[in-house]
Amino acid sequence: MSRLNERIARLARISATPPDQGITRESYTELYEEGLRLVEGWMADAGLSTRRDAVGNAFGRLEGGSSGGPCLLVGSHLDTTLNAGPLDGVYGVLGAIEAVDRLRGTGSAPGRAVEVIAMTAEEPRFATGCLGSRALVGDMSADVARHLTDRDGTTLAEAMQGLSMDPERIPEARLPEGYADLFVELHIEQGAVLEQRGSRLGIVNAIAAPHDMSLTVTGTAAHAGTTPMGLRRDAFLGAAEIALAVEAAALASATGRTVGTVGAVSVRPGANNIVPGHVEIEVDIRDTELDPREAVVADMLSTAEAVCARRGLELDVKTIAQDTPVNCSETVQKAVAEACVECGIEGHVMASGAYHDAMVLARKMPVGMLFVPSQGGVSHHPDEHTDPADLDLGVDVLAGTLRRLTEPAL
Ligand code: HGY
Ligand code: MN
Ligand code: MN
Repeated sequence: MSRLNERIARLARISATPPDQGITRESYTELYEEGLRLVEGWMADAGLSTRRDAVGNAFGRLEGGSSGGPCLLVGSHLDTTLNAGPLDGVYGVLGAIEAVDRLRGTGSAPGRAVEVIAMTAEEPRFATGCLGSRALVGDMSADVARHLTDRDGTTLAEAMQGLSMDPERIPEARLPEGYADLFVELHIEQGAVLEQRGSRLGIVNAIAAPHDMSLTVTGTAAHAGTTPMGLRRDAFLGAAEIALAVEAAALASATGRTVGTVGAVSVRPGANNIVPGHVEIEVDIRDTELDPREAVVADMLSTAEAVCARRGLELDVKTIAQDTPVNCSETVQKAVAEACVECGIEGHVMASGAYHDAMVLARKMPVGMLFVPSQGGVSHHPDEHTDPADLDLGVDVLAGTLRRLTEPAL
């Protein structure tokens, strides 16, 4: 088994859930810190100088031949969503360490500095995802941290303070202008396109972005036994119709690729003998094209308003995230394609349906991504798996890509 696959298995053991229920290692937890310390040790073993920023992103730097100038960033995230698999995010960080270690091992310094980055909070424990990369581009603040809460009502600020981190220092994590001028992310596909095509490597040309909202439907809690059906203001039935409207609007999208999900629901008071008076649903709508996605959102919201008017319910809509889809750097795509040929394979150009930190870092620099196949397209699930040989091949291609992108200027 390669060192990469051993390390993936080692990190997977640091989890709040037992192995048969997948891996749960959420950001701003002691478990996350334990995993991060392990990875920082592996960065140091690769000869990288390590540091952490004010929000807990970790960096491992390999100096380049030409001192000064912007570096190339390569990495992904280390946190997981709930009951997840061992690869989402983790593969991109550990693969980057392996690839940069090889770059160092060539004996000649890369043309410019390369930094491996392990970002925090890509998964939406606090409803909004990509908090570590948002801090890097200056889109986070202590005030936002005081308002973002997780499913237990803990704010991001409280979670940070629980680990002796100061939310007031969040703005310090913003990367100085010119710090880095390219970001490359190795990731599992989390879909089944590569597997169905029999391709071993995806060259990402576009990254879908989410418009995430929290919809709160308010009716009247009432006795389930004595309240006639015609006199009810049942908030759950209104929310249920809205959830179906999310599906219908996505299916009717102009692009035919928009996806819509209601992944979190809270029903209050929450007893089986009380008509629900207050229901919150979290809606996630994505596409690689902005205007068609926003048309789907508008379609869904107009249906939601009509449903609530008809049922005598109130509707409140809060935006959680409204990100812009990204087109990936042609330079990176070309370097990946050439590295694929060098490895004896042909890369398949494709879009990413998942969002990634690359989507956020694209606000400040050109980005590129490369994918390896996910078995059955399964991800965000304990059965997430990629053939270890494909994982190793992905690192070979990443190493070839980094070499091309850091070749010393002639
Ligand atoms: O939801 C996503 O697309 C990412 O995997 N967090
Ligand atoms: Mn994920
Ligand atoms: Mn991910």
